[in-house]
Amino acid sequence: MIFNKKSEIDPDNIPEHIAIIMDGNGRWAKKRGLSRSVGHREGSRTLRKIVEECYQLGVRYLTVYAFSTENWSRPKEEVDELMKLLLEYLRNAEKELAGKKVRIRVIGGKKHLPEEIIKEIKRVEENTENIEGLDFIIALNYGGRQELVEAVSKLVEDAKAGLISEIDEEAISKRLYTRDIPDPDLLIRTSGEMRISNFLIWQLSYSEFYFCDVLWPDFSPTHLRDAIISYQGRQRRFGGVKC
Ligand code: FPP
Repeated sequence: MIFNKKSEIDPDNIPEHIAIIMDGNGRWAKKRGLSRSVGHREGSRTLRKIVEECYQLGVRYLTVYAFSTENWSRPKEEVDELMKLLLEYLRNAEKELAGKKVRIRVIGGKKHLPEEIIKEIKRVEENTENIEGLDFIIALNYGGRQELVEAVSKLVEDAKAGLISEIDEEAISKRLYTRDIPDPDLLIRTSGEMRISNFLIWQLSYSEFYFCDVLWPDFSPTHLRDAIISYQGRQRRFGGVKC
């Protein structure tokens, strides 16, 4: 039998940008007879470990789907708990990441977000904006379709103002929340679901997808490494041909 599955990460081929759909907090909690909120709290612990691992591996951008535009329809108690976790995270981020070169950014709409979260986002983004190492990007109140609607609206405004000579891909990309961030190389979704759920729908066009059955609270740095090893074994063709 020929075994050629690599078990070690190639440090020269680390994905520049990893995006993660952190799915399965609710199921993790249900399996243990706990409330969904406990699952989210456990999920935020996992996230801290994964940020650390990405930093150690030299990943340049990490984007996580923390709260979608659709998540407002969840029970109020769950939405409140998620907002509480996010606020806690933003308030303590610099202390937790002290000594590490991590810039924190938040993408998504501001509509419906509690004032105190908007204030914290502004504070943490400003405080970390000159840091170059890992950009940790939190997609909060984010929806890919909403992002495109906003980009197209800006495009129309700019066209009316005579600021645009041509409508091409760059004209759209430049008006997205991710305007200065390269597209993800690798998308990871946990919990066995295989869809992108309105996440980075424009930016994921040529990303490699990695789905795993592990529920997000159980996702470990070893699972992340497995995803990267799988990515490193793939041949990216971007629609072309490789000989
Ligand atoms: C999806 O699992 C997860 C979410 C909607 C929230 C993700 C949030 C966190 C991991 C914690 C907070 C984030 C930060 C940045 C501190 P689900 O609830 O849909 O799980 P289910 O599909 O099993 O019900």
